[in-house]
Amino acid sequence: MIFEKIMNSLEDTERFAIKLANLLMAQDTITLEGDLGAGKTTFTKALAKGLGVTRTVNSPTFTIVKQYEGRLPFNHLDVYRLAESDEDLGWDELFYGDAVSVVEWAHLIEQDLPKERLGIEIYRIGENERRFVLMPYGKRYEALCEELMR
Ligand SMILES: Nc1ncnc2c1ncn2[C@@H]1O[C@H](COP(=O)(O)OP(=O)(O)OP(=O)(O)O)[C@@H](O)[C@H]1O
Ligand SMILES: [Mg+2]
Repeated sequence: MIFEKIMNSLEDTERFAIKLANLLMAQDTITLEGDLGAGKTTFTKALAKGLGVTRTVNSPTFTIVKQYEGRLPFNHLDVYRLAESDEDLGWDELFYGDAVSVVEWAHLIEQDLPKERLGIEIYRIGENERRFVLMPYGKRYEALCEELMR
């Protein structure tokens, strides 16, 4: 099952992120893929706002993980600069705690991701237009997408 949604403006993207935020529960994981400047961090910031995070969400590029408090705890991961490593970096504690997690460049830690998750790919189709492709893995996320696309 795959869903697609065109965002015609930054505001469309922000509205969509907030709508998703309102449907999220503890342990939900969302992975974001897309080229530089696609809008992964922009989407994440709006989602955090929708989750009631009041602190400023910046790209955590150099720290890999940042944690915030909102309606639910919120983990923002950007694994772009993560060197390949066999070490156990403690992902399970992040993904299987009480928080919602968003992972930018998630394919780089594919083997550590929860099997059930919502994958989102963002494509830049114009200055302000984006194509979002949503790929739910698992029943929970299929239901989430159906609700989200309503
Ligand atoms: N409809 C839209 N949705 C998302 N971002 C948009 C949209 N229209 C314009 N933009 C702009 O595109 C840029 C997206 O940058 P952003 O940092 O979110 O990308 P990114 O995918 O996180 O890139 P990186 O991989 O470098 O971290 C922002 O400047 C944002 O304002
Ligand atoms: Mg980013």
